Amino acid sequence: MIADAPVLNELNPNVAAMRPSATLAVAARAKALSRSGHDVISLSAGEPDFDTPAPIVEAAFQALRDGFTRYTANPGILELREAIAAKLQRENGLEVEPGQVLCSNGAKQSVAQAILALCRPGDEVLMPAPYWVSYPEQVRLAGAEPVAIETAAVDEYKMTPAQLDAAITPNTRLLILNSPSNPTGAVYTREEIEALVEVLHQHDYVIVLSDEIYEYVLFDAEHTTIGALPGMAERTVTVNGFSKGYAMTGWRIGYMAGPQWIVDAAAKIQSQFTSAPCSITQRAALAAVQMSKEPIEAMAVSFRERRDYMLDRVNQWPGVRCPKPEGAFYLFPDISAYFGRTASDGTEITGSEALCFYLLEQHGVALVPGQAFGSDSGVRVSYASSMDELARGADRIEAGLGALV
Ligand SMILES: Cc1ncc(COP(=O)(O)O)c(C=O)c1O
Repeated sequence: MIADAPVLNELNPNVAAMRPSATLAVAARAKALSRSGHDVISLSAGEPDFDTPAPIVEAAFQALRDGFTRYTANPGILELREAIAAKLQRENGLEVEPGQVLCSNGAKQSVAQAILALCRPGDEVLMPAPYWVSYPEQVRLAGAEPVAIETAAVDEYKMTPAQLDAAITPNTRLLILNSPSNPTGAVYTREEIEALVEVLHQHDYVIVLSDEIYEYVLFDAEHTTIGALPGMAERTVTVNGFSKGYAMTGWRIGYMAGPQWIVDAAAKIQSQFTSAPCSITQRAALAAVQMSKEPIEAMAVSFRERRDYMLDRVNQWPGVRCPKPEGAFYLFPDISAYFGRTASDGTEITGSEALCFYLLEQHGVALVPGQAFGSDSGVRVSYASSMDELARGADRIEAGLGALV
C-alpha cells in the first residue's frame, strides 16, 4: 500500500465539523420506547399541533385540479413573491420589491442559503445562546465559525447591546437574531432592537440575518422587524415562513427578503440545489398570505392559554426559574439546580441531556436538552400539545424532579 494514498472515506472537512443534532438522541429513544409499548408523553414537538387552515388546503386541491404541477420559476411564482413583498411592506414596514423575495423549501433552506452565500472561511457568526440548533451547524458547513453570546434566564434570555458590542470583531460577518425565539420564546421589544441597532451602526460591515418564523405566535408583544429600522435595509436578510404561524410544517415553504445582491446569490445556490419549492405548496402559501388572519389568531390564543398553564406549573418546581415567554410555543426553564443530584437507581444528573434521559426512561416524558441549543442549564418544554397531555407531562416532570436527591 502506498503510504500517502488518498483516503476513501474522508469527508469534506466542513461536513466533518458539523455536529449531529443532539436533539436526535433523546427523540430517537422516545420513539423507540413508544414503539415498544411504553406510555411516553412528548413535550418535545417543534411544530403546532393544529391542522393547516381550510382555505390553504383548498388552494392546494385547486392547484392540483388546475394541473399546476410543473416546475415553477426558481425563486417562486411571481404572484407569491408579490404577495409576500406586499405583506412585508404592510405588516413589517419592510420596503422590498418582489424580485428581492426568494421562496424556498422552508425557512431552514432560506437560512442555510443566506449563510452559504455570505460566509467565508474564518468568518465569525454571532448568535445569542440558547439558539436554534441548525444555526451553528449551517455556519460550520459554510466553513465559518459560530460564536455564541450566552444569555441567561435572569435576563429573559436576551442579549444586551454591551454583550453584542463585546462580541463583534473584525472577523464578524453575520449576526443571527431570532425573535420570537426557539427555544426560549423570548421576544425583543422595539426599544431593545433599536439599542442593538445602535451598536451595529458602529460596525457597518456586520450583516444581520433575522429569522422571524414565529412572528405570528406572539402574546401581548409587538413584533419588530429589524430590517425596517433606519439604515438596516441594506444589511439585513429577513427570513420568514409558513410552518409555525400557519401550521404548515409539512408543506415546506419559507422565504428570505433582503438586499438584491444577497438574494441573487442565494437564488443561484437554490437553482443548483433544489430549484423552486413545490408548485402546489406555493399556491397554498399564496392563499395563506391572502386569507383572513382569524385562524392564525385563534391558534395564538390557544398557545397563550397553554403557555400560561405550563409556566404556572414549571415555576412551582423547586429551584426552577423560567422567564415568561412572549412568543413561540416553548418554555426554557433553568433546571441546573438539579445537576449533581442522583436518582434512586444511582443515575447521576450530570447535565441537561442526563436529566432528559432520566425523565424519559424513568418517568415517561420527553423534553429536549438545552445542550442542543448551546445552553446546558435549561431544557426546552414544548407546549404545542393538548391541555391534557400538558397536565400529565407536567405531573411526570414534577414527580421526576421530586425523586432526585
Ligand atoms: C427558529 C427556527 N427557524 C427556522 C425553522 C425552520 O422552519 P421551516 O419549517 O420553515 O424550515 C425553525 C423550525 O423549527 C425554527 O424553529
